[in-house]
Amino acid sequence: MIACDGLSRIYGEGREGYPALQGVSFDVADGEFVAVMGPSGCGKSTLLNLLGLLDRPSGGRYRLGGVDTAGMSDAERTALRRQKIGFVFQAFNLLPRLSAIENVCVPMAYAGVARAEREHRARELLSRAGLGSKARRTPLELSGGERQRVGIARALANRPGLLLADEPTGNLDSKSSAEILALLRELHQGGMTVVLVTHDPAIGASAQRLLKLKDGRLE
Ligand SMILES: Nc1ncnc2c1ncn2[C@@H]1O[C@H](COP(=O)(O)OP(=O)(O)OP(=O)(O)O)[C@@H](O)[C@H]1O
Ligand SMILES: [Mg+2]
Repeated sequence: MIACDGLSRIYGEGREGYPALQGVSFDVADGEFVAVMGPSGCGKSTLLNLLGLLDRPSGGRYRLGGVDTAGMSDAERTALRRQKIGFVFQAFNLLPRLSAIENVCVPMAYAGVARAEREHRARELLSRAGLGSKARRTPLELSGGERQRVGIARALANRPGLLLADEPTGNLDSKSSAEILALLRELHQGGMTVVLVTHDPAIGASAQRLLKLKDGRLE
């Protein structure tokens, strides 16, 4: 699913440049559940943004599903991201004026899915996330854990093969965190490839493999 070879990311330019990632190489197989851990500032979000095609590396190679992303235009990267990747954010990043179901529909609208199919799929995804009865609520009318479940449902909307999550439980209490972890594990058991960044040792322990970053390098 993922093949990274000598990935680096330098923020800024010249002598001001800051190497947030340096020579990071690893693969993630189809269906794996991998956790990325390491101290604050070590480059976890930088790495996940590269994997999510939200950012471009300064060096090295990133192949996603066998496709080399290096020579791709922004439009091609966006299309590939839409098709293959679901991204879950620590701060949920839901649209506050839209209901849960409308939030889940947004990426499908961008992907050109017909309205009836969008609603049908969104309803199903929210039910699977345990929010069947709260689909019409806006984010303000939901708890943090419920918001993140909407965030996960939205990430799954275009049926990606890869789910990326940057500290998905970072803003949640332990009970909500456990629920989110259970949902992610269930998705993984259903065949989803999951790469998540976490500070939570319990979540790290439940992954099949742990990538430890320190000062921008893999340990
Ligand atoms: N857009 C940016 N411009 C300049 N420097 C940046 C930028 N984004 C991140 N950095 C720096 O790169 C380093 C890695 O940041 P990153 O956000 O990847 O860390 P992290 O491991 O996700 O940390 P945290 O656990 O606190 O979220 C940090 O030193 C950070 O200050
Ligand atoms: Mg981070």
